[in-house]
Amino acid sequence: MTEPSTPSHLRTAVFISGRGSNMTALVEAARAPDFPADIALVLSNRADAAGLAYAGEAGIATAVVDHKPFNGNREAFERAIDAVLVEHGVELVCLAGFLRVLTPWFVTRWAGRLINIHPSLLPAFRGLDTHARALAANVRLHGCTVHFVTPELDDGPVIAQAAVPILEGDTAQTLAGRVLVQEHVIYPAALARVASGRAKLVDGRVVLTGDTTRPDAVLVVPA
Ligand code: GRF
Repeated sequence: MTEPSTPSHLRTAVFISGRGSNMTALVEAARAPDFPADIALVLSNRADAAGLAYAGEAGIATAVVDHKPFNGNREAFERAIDAVLVEHGVELVCLAGFLRVLTPWFVTRWAGRLINIHPSLLPAFRGLDTHARALAANVRLHGCTVHFVTPELDDGPVIAQAAVPILEGDTAQTLAGRVLVQEHVIYPAALARVASGRAKLVDGRVVLTGDTTRPDAVLVVPA
């Protein structure tokens, strides 16, 4: 049985594979009564994901769908996930450090209702090791992006970004730490926009409505 969510609060699932700090930021933001999404489910492909314990203690339903028994059949794995989402009445999905690449089947099924956070200013530095690659490229601005998910990896239309200056002496770790602080700011802001219908995927691009001057669309963090 699924608990009915508050009317106009979209039932949202967060997918994690590890630490879950972005999931925690989303859960904390969603505690505000006027936040337009309820975190109804935290789902992981790994039973040992640290974030599952936090979610359980916070009273949120958790689910583990291990990818390994599916022997590389990604769509079968995703159909199992999809069944869990349906069972919990989920309407929107946030990927937050979920380390499985999704197939076009799942992405199409959840089109416009599936968002991700990536630790770079997309379209720069798709993929892994973004902080080390930004340092190696000698760019001055790095950051993070929340985007709608499309079949191409780290390539969907952008909902929100935070720019984080690179400082002299930065290491991948120090830079990652400052970017992560901003991830925790823009992901709840982006989820609120999507859940309230103020950011919509229309013909492959994001249309922002409501107060588009608010700084949750683009945030530049001074050094
Ligand atoms: C974050 O840096 C996020 O941008 C990336 O994976 C990391 C997950 O961290 N997609 P956490 O599990 O949310 O702490």
